[in-house]
Amino acid sequence: MPNQTATRRGREGFDGRSYWETRLRSESGLRATGHRRFSEAYNHAMYQVATDHMVAALRSAGVELAGKRILDIGPGFGYFVERYLEWGAEHVTGIELTEIGVTRLRQRFPHQEFVRADISEMDRAWLGQFDVVSAISVVFHIVGDEAFDRALRNICAAVKRGGHLVIVDRFNGLSLPTARHARYRNMRYYEPILREQGFSVLSVRPMYYVLSRSVVPLVGPWLLSWEPVLRLLLRLEHYCGRRLGSNLGGLKFLIAQQQGPPRGADRPGRSLRRQAY
Ligand SMILES: C[S@@+](CC[C@H](N)C(=O)[O-])C[C@H]1O[C@@H](n2cnc3c(N)ncnc32)[C@H](O)[C@@H]1O
Repeated sequence: MPNQTATRRGREGFDGRSYWETRLRSESGLRATGHRRFSEAYNHAMYQVATDHMVAALRSAGVELAGKRILDIGPGFGYFVERYLEWGAEHVTGIELTEIGVTRLRQRFPHQEFVRADISEMDRAWLGQFDVVSAISVVFHIVGDEAFDRALRNICAAVKRGGHLVIVDRFNGLSLPTARHARYRNMRYYEPILREQGFSVLSVRPMYYVLSRSVVPLVGPWLLSWEPVLRLLLRLEHYCGRRLGSNLGGLKFLIAQQQGPPRGADRPGRSLRRQAY
């Protein structure tokens, strides 16, 4: 069994386990793991857009999920587990912080495997190795920097040689705490660990352009959730997706490949392929 010590509180005293346990128990739809302040319809639109952009990101990096063994970190209620199985994954394992999440996942996907654990507290030797490891909207919820370091190293260690990593964060801009349950990080936090662990970044692509932000903060989410406005936002989202390469400080998919044995931090490493993050 994994080494599961009590979930450590982040630097700001944030207790991730109790936050997510409470949140996932109070909502059953996509709002549980998406945006609570927006309607279920808005969340459906957000997840659909994220899925389309993920497919584009995987394609641009030449990553195929069919026939692969996938480890999904923080699957929540399993939105992406369902996608991976639809896309032909051979098997999905999930490591989820909450009891409620694991209970629901085991009911929904009885042939897959789900473990209740904190990725930043796990024993690396226990994790095993997978073709693809994903952490979708999870790592930026690990607010403490030491916990982030341990989590990213564990995530990297679970990718087999030649395998791929899919992580969502902003990867640019200032790395300031926003909500108490989120701390977005730029590449300065990721690059040294990815390099040390033998990864090359293949692609960094927007997850959303317009959605997932209060673009009209003074008006509020209720207006953005109103169907005609949501339809307009979706059109704008697709327009930006076709026209723009960057979403500036928005969330992005990073896809990296394990290309060699982990290097000691003191040994000079190949530099990661540089992109405009
Ligand atoms: C925003 S939700 C995203 C869920 C899912 N990946 C999705 O995109 O629908 C974050 C999920 O990560 C889980 N989580 C947060 N911190 C975690 C950690 N340290 N280890 C494992 N899971 C974690 C939470 O319990 C929650 O289910």
